[in-house]
Amino acid sequence: MERLDKILANTGRWSRKEARELIRAGRVSVDGVTARAPEDKADPAAVFTVDGENISGEKQVYLMLHKPAGLVSATEDPRQPTVLELLPEHLRRVGLFPAGRLDKDTEGLLLLTNDGPLAHRLLSPRHHVDKTYFVRVDGALDREDAEAFAAGMTLADGLACLPAGLELLDTPDTAIVTLREGKYHQIKRMLAARGKPVVYLKRLTMGPLSLDPALEKGEWRPLTAEELAAIRSV
Ligand code: URA
Repeated sequence: MERLDKILANTGRWSRKEARELIRAGRVSVDGVTARAPEDKADPAAVFTVDGENISGEKQVYLMLHKPAGLVSATEDPRQPTVLELLPEHLRRVGLFPAGRLDKDTEGLLLLTNDGPLAHRLLSPRHHVDKTYFVRVDGALDREDAEAFAAGMTLADGLACLPAGLELLDTPDTAIVTLREGKYHQIKRMLAARGKPVVYLKRLTMGPLSLDPALEKGEWRPLTAEELAAIRSV
């Protein structure tokens, strides 16, 4: 048996606070009986409705995660901890995967979903979904680096990169990089090729999604209805 507000929040559709409000407003029923107290316990296998809609079989989940360094963007790994380990047990069993990987030492915005077609659209360069990253390098970035990014770099190993953005910031070792694709270690490889190796990398945005500044590293929340509508219209 689990608390009702927790069961609702575990669907990934509402925060714990939103779940409590729904329950107190009498909008939630458990096996056909209206619930009133968020702290009441229920069997997670019961039939839950919100405003009459059966949510027990809810399949699609969309979570925004502030990825910390030290975890791999995978659903399982024999040796290293994965980002899924940040989620409660229940949410590890609904088929979530990271839509777009970040390296183990990269931080920032990661979308976890079990909606394969949507993830595919967000990641395909054809759909022009820009991702932006804050980057710090060992060295000083300049206009020539920005021009090389804008022209589309071809790396020594043959990797041809699409034109990318590099916006210089006030401190010369930092910049905002914008990519339309996500090849393996792409930013690190592009900047290594410029002789300015990356020392810190954080993803800030992915298309219409921005990392919620209220999320601490390692924290996550369901996407809001507005965020979901925005990524669905990509
Ligand atoms: N580019 C990288 O090199 N690493 C990331 O994690 C993302 C983009």
